[in-house]
Amino acid sequence: MSQAGFREEAAIDAISATLAYVEEYLPEDEALQRARGRGQEAGATPISPAGGAALRFVATLIGARTVVEVGSGCGVSGIWLLRGMARDAVLTSVDVEHENQRLAKIAYREAGLGASRTRMIVGRALEVLPRLTDGAYDMVFCDADKREYPEYLTAALRLLRPGGVVAFDNALWHDRVADPAHVDPDTEAIREVGRLVRDDERLVPLLLPVGDGLLCAVKRD
Ligand SMILES: C[S@@+](CC[C@H](N)C(=O)[O-])C[C@H]1O[C@@H](n2cnc3c(N)ncnc32)[C@H](O)[C@@H]1O
Repeated sequence: MSQAGFREEAAIDAISATLAYVEEYLPEDEALQRARGRGQEAGATPISPAGGAALRFVATLIGARTVVEVGSGCGVSGIWLLRGMARDAVLTSVDVEHENQRLAKIAYREAGLGASRTRMIVGRALEVLPRLTDGAYDMVFCDADKREYPEYLTAALRLLRPGGVVAFDNALWHDRVADPAHVDPDTEAIREVGRLVRDDERLVPLLLPVGDGLLCAVKRD
């Protein structure tokens, strides 16, 4: 390997070590680890620990009382969100898979979060979201069908109050988004939502390189 090649490899190793440090900075407790294990087993890949911590941070920062989660999975992101929300606040969580929501409910219980803290809705996101009230939510977190991300953004803009936050997990989609060679429908839809969020005058955007990428935006007043 050339000297430049070695330098490049060393730089990549350093970035990987730094990102690993970020992910391990806030270790998950037993309830989250158990939920993560079930999520991985069920194929409902959970948000990364640092991504979850970012959700908790945002929910705390904006004093979130009403949050919509699109893609409950087995409960990892829900626990992180609920731990940032007010003590009596309610998470509305949507998932098309009944079994995943059953496992998510177990995860919330194990995390000490009572059933009154969640409103679980089984159904396809694009059928459920139109039934939710306009302007009634502090935060919308999207982590379901990647090809539907642009449509989740449209729904979020309607659901959020001014000052509310929309967030999308997998905004970097396994390093594919940054690589123009990847043009599969999931990657293209995630790129599109990135462009839409960045170019929308109603939004203040931020792309965080935590986990698989967390795209956030505040809806302006
Ligand atoms: C990546 S997992 C969510 C992981 C979860 N947010 C977490 O961090 O633990 C995606 C979830 O979205 C659900 N899903 C996929 N397509 C959907 C759709 N069109 N509507 C609602 N849920 C969907 C899947 O059943 C799966 O549970």
